[in-house]
Amino acid sequence: MSYQSHYFQEVRKAQQRAYVPYSHFKVGAYLKTKDGRHFYGANVENAAYPATICAERSSLVAAISEGYRPGDFESITVTVDAEHPSSPCGTCRQVLKELCDDDMPVYMTNHKGEMIKSTVAELLPHGFSGKDLE
Ligand code: THU
Repeated sequence: MSYQSHYFQEVRKAQQRAYVPYSHFKVGAYLKTKDGRHFYGANVENAAYPATICAERSSLVAAISEGYRPGDFESITVTVDAEHPSSPCGTCRQVLKELCDDDMPVYMTNHKGEMIKSTVAELLPHGFSGKDLE
């Protein structure tokens, strides 16, 4: 299913849950499952900075922990308060590659309501996956 206006309201709700005492940069993620459920994600920072988890991975980890499996996801919407819509970091792109279909839409938004559509494969071309271990 393609982008719907309520995805933006939902992802902005998720963003408010961010725990960002260090960067003050709130990121939200709204992960839709193919069976019609959704998971929120927010970035959760840590005084030991590398222990921070991004919003995208938060939503995916929540879904997998609830029993969802690779291939169960329909889309992810991400939001930031920035001049340009959010762009998932390299680590999140790798985790998206692991858990989501290559053609799954990734909707990147910002506080102005701008939206850029991409896909997992577009964000991580020639990405490494379990197939490469065979
Ligand atoms: N962040 C995300 O949540 N997602 C990304 O893809 C990029 C970065 C977070 C991590 C950190 O809490 C803050 O944004 C600044 O890097």
